[in-house]
Amino acid sequence: MKRLSEIAYLLRCYKRLPLRTRLFVVVRYLVCPWDDIIDQISDSGSVLDIGCGHGLFLLLAKRRFPRLNCVGIDHDIRKIRLAVTSVRDVNVSFVANTEAGQLKPSTFDFVTVSDVLYSVPPHRWAEIFSLAHRCLKPNGVLIIKETVEKPKWKYYICLAQETVALKILKYTKGHSPRLESVEFYLSQLDANDFVIREHRRLDSGYPWPHHMFVAKKGW
Ligand SMILES: C[S@@+](CC[C@H](N)C(=O)[O-])C[C@H]1O[C@@H](n2cnc3c(N)ncnc32)[C@H](O)[C@@H]1O
Repeated sequence: MKRLSEIAYLLRCYKRLPLRTRLFVVVRYLVCPWDDIIDQISDSGSVLDIGCGHGLFLLLAKRRFPRLNCVGIDHDIRKIRLAVTSVRDVNVSFVANTEAGQLKPSTFDFVTVSDVLYSVPPHRWAEIFSLAHRCLKPNGVLIIKETVEKPKWKYYICLAQETVALKILKYTKGHSPRLESVEFYLSQLDANDFVIREHRRLDSGYPWPHHMFVAKKGW
């Protein structure tokens, strides 16, 4: 019942988007454990979603927490334009990566990164971590939801699906998908001045190897 009402809400929010994009958003809603990510944020304060796409996560977060200040950023200008022009009834802001300078330092309580790093070569992750670090308040929380390389059968399903999305259909703008290990995520958080608070598997009931990493800004 909750799922149906959230799908109806998303379809209302995205009523100005072409049907194909609305269907894409509904599928994206169904394949990701959104509640577990939203559980990490709180009723007030502010969240920056890096690699926000069409803003699906922010719309769901705003529905649960209406007072939350929500900003999304993405390097795909096409998606940002679609989000800006379509989501007019919900108070969520969107900016393109080229406007990242507009984001004031130390202003966000939470930064979320959901299924973005797998399409960014690891030597460029530091750019995303650095944006998150700059924008978070002291003691602010970074929440990462990505897919990892185990178990292998889930890895292959995910890899095949993401290769189609990134390289064939070009729904997602990014590099060839790479699903890293849990240890690699933990080491990268540490190397980029985040203190790991929690790591959790979220793949139960999903054929995708979802994992979540929650970390605090280290200094
Ligand atoms: C699979 S989509 C996920 C979208 C959204 N986070 C979600 O969970 O539904 C990956 C998104 O990350 C964005 N992205 C990839 N690399 C990025 C980067 N370096 N900076 C900002 N956005 C990026 C892509 O444009 C795309 O919208």
